[in-house]
Amino acid sequence: MLMREAERARRRAYAPYSRFPVGAALLLADGRIVTGCNVENASYGLAVCAERNAVFQAVSQGERDFLAIAVTARAGHGAPPCGSCRQVLHEFAPRMMVYWRDARGRIVSRRLTALLPLPFVLDPRRGR
Ligand code: THU
Repeated sequence: MLMREAERARRRAYAPYSRFPVGAALLLADGRIVTGCNVENASYGLAVCAERNAVFQAVSQGERDFLAIAVTARAGHGAPPCGSCRQVLHEFAPRMMVYWRDARGRIVSRRLTALLPLPFVLDPRRGR
């Protein structure tokens, strides 16, 4: 279900430079889903990943309570979230579940704490 939404979002990816479309779907605590896709630019470094677009979209709508995220690239390519996206996800839901497809198409899952064991936190008293 969540992965299906990520796949749908991937079709909206704008990735003419890398030809690597990615889709992400965030599950909110109330059951709603917010999606994102990667958006690239002629100035290559300005590209934003699907996961961060999904998070920024949700936060812009007033939603920060994330239970899980599903991420998918095209068939034959695994797409666990990149390090930058792990850090951004950690900001709002450090214990959330992360699902992605491995290169064989199987769904793999880990808790974010396993993917980002030593996150950067500005105030160490708030760190988890
Ligand atoms: N990308 C994502 O959308 N998510 C990731 O976790 C890794 C990479 C995008 C960025 C760029 O548009 C393309 O994939 C190739 O790096």
